[in-house]
Amino acid sequence: MCGIVAYIGPREAYPILIKGLQRLEYRGYDSAGIALLNGELNLFKTKGKVVELVDYLKDKDLKGNIGIAHTRWATHGEPNQTNAHPHFSQSGKLAIIHNGIIENYGALKKELTKRGYTFTSDTDTEVLVNLIEDICQNEKVSLEEAVRMSLNQVIGAYAIVILSQENPDMLIAARKGSPLVIGIGKDDYFIASDATPIIEYTKNVVYLEDEEVAIIKRGEELQIRNIKNRKKTPYIQELEWNLNELEKGGYDHFMLKEIYEQPRSIKDSMRGRLNARKGIVSLGGVSEYEEKLLKARRIIMIACGTSWHASLVGEYLFEDIARIPVEVEYASEFRYRNPIIDENDIIIAISQSGETADTLAAIKMAKSKGATILGICNVVGSSIPRLTDAGSYTHAGPEIGVASTKAFTAQVTILTLMALRLAQLKGTLPKSRFMQLLHELEHLPAKVEQVLDDKGITEQIAKEFKNTTNFLYLGRGYNFPVALEGALKLKEISYIHAEGYPAAEMKHGPIALIDENMPVVFIAPSKGIYEKVVSNIQEVKARNGKIIAIVTKGDTTVKKMADYIIEIPETEEMLVPILATIPLQKLAYYIAIMRGCNVDQPRNLAKSVTVE
Ligand code: AGP
Ligand code: GLU
Repeated sequence: MCGIVAYIGPREAYPILIKGLQRLEYRGYDSAGIALLNGELNLFKTKGKVVELVDYLKDKDLKGNIGIAHTRWATHGEPNQTNAHPHFSQSGKLAIIHNGIIENYGALKKELTKRGYTFTSDTDTEVLVNLIEDICQNEKVSLEEAVRMSLNQVIGAYAIVILSQENPDMLIAARKGSPLVIGIGKDDYFIASDATPIIEYTKNVVYLEDEEVAIIKRGEELQIRNIKNRKKTPYIQELEWNLNELEKGGYDHFMLKEIYEQPRSIKDSMRGRLNARKGIVSLGGVSEYEEKLLKARRIIMIACGTSWHASLVGEYLFEDIARIPVEVEYASEFRYRNPIIDENDIIIAISQSGETADTLAAIKMAKSKGATILGICNVVGSSIPRLTDAGSYTHAGPEIGVASTKAFTAQVTILTLMALRLAQLKGTLPKSRFMQLLHELEHLPAKVEQVLDDKGITEQIAKEFKNTTNFLYLGRGYNFPVALEGALKLKEISYIHAEGYPAAEMKHGPIALIDENMPVVFIAPSKGIYEKVVSNIQEVKARNGKIIAIVTKGDTTVKKMADYIIEIPETEEMLVPILATIPLQKLAYYIAIMRGCNVDQPRNLAKSVTVE
């Protein structure tokens, strides 16, 4: 979902900017551009990929030790060269790059047009840069003051960087609702939408907060003010990640790397939070809200996509072992349906990126009604954690592949820890049972390793079904959300239509779809209501459906009925979702690869949906 990179310092800016854009490509975009200042303010932009921009720049003057660069995800104006960023102000003396949406750009544009401004693009961004220029010229104020004043007029979301031909030693950055990170080097500053373009130069970063403006001057300390002109002390954090985490690590795709990282990412999400031997579960980030969670008349979980599926697993966990009522809501629905919430409610917002616009908006709505907001997020310093009252980071490491994999299992792990902690506090589990569950959870990463080592069965199944046009995924209880997640994985990277259902629900309509051309994936561990799932498998078999079943190792019943089985190790019923999802991730991956799909950047998708 678009990207920003900027640089000021002693080095040539161009190589840093282009490499930065390449590191942000995973976010999804439709055009790219760059502006460099070397006496002259030179601006270049193209529709399409960064590689096309590089090609276009071959014979251009790319000198300059200050510059800005952008990958655009169009919201106002179709993806083309004119609408690509950066955008000049009318005088040509200012250049801007912007992530986000200026919701009141129409009214601002009308006013500026009246004042004689003309526009070359259809974007909201070009309106903003001319508003800044207009204020600068008419109010006779400094550029940083003009930026601050203009942002007080803006409604919407923005992450912006402005470069001025008359200020070759300064960049101005600001954000609201769209992320911006400032890397602090020895003699230079790096600005980007996230840490990936920065980490190879410095691990010292400042995450801008909403409505903050950064004045970045060559050779000077970083200055931050908010748009009300209040000085803020920059909070410098040290990045946890290292560069090779951002590379593919020898795998063909980020998605495969991240699938295979799950033993580590699940372990990392438990690190410092689980001591099975001592019977300790502790989530420091939310510990002061435990009482409130225990007393809550219900907990509402809000999320989108895969994170919504993790929330569904959370519902089963919290109700089953902690006996706390949970409602799971699509954030995009929750934010608009005027829900009945008040200060007694606790919302748990789940998000990998921490930037999903619908989830952010739902949080703000709930917050305005007095609810307590907890977060489960994977990106440190992203917008959602900064909006919540408290929360837990999943520590899954950067998830570059657009299709979420390790973030999902890490989210479910955090929800499992939360449910176990609440069960412990409520006394809803006998001590022996509690200790047994902690022990099994602590050893789960080793079982994830076993699942990953499937001797090529998922690849073999993928070969068989790569040209299928429809799939059904069926599961019951804890594995109903796994069915939904398996279907989403297949849909989003192979473009094959797939639906997830509660297995029993198949009788109420979808069974009409079953014939010899319909593969049906069953999550059928010998846990829970296993016999009922076996009956559902019978129903599909009786109609010549092709059956692919995820079964507990050693299962002999389903083995006789299914066309293909994928075995997972024996584990607790409540931990099956973490194990059972992994073969479905691999199945989707291999089918997509065999169909020649771009698994890391599937068509139409973005890693973080930061617009409505
Ligand atoms: C997951 O594979 C999808 N890419 C998508 O559904 C994603 O889960 C959703 O957009 C929510 O993103 P978030 O977790 O970053 O909020
Ligand atoms: N709203 C701006 C545009 O459409 C920025 C979109 C983005 O975030 O890339 O150009």
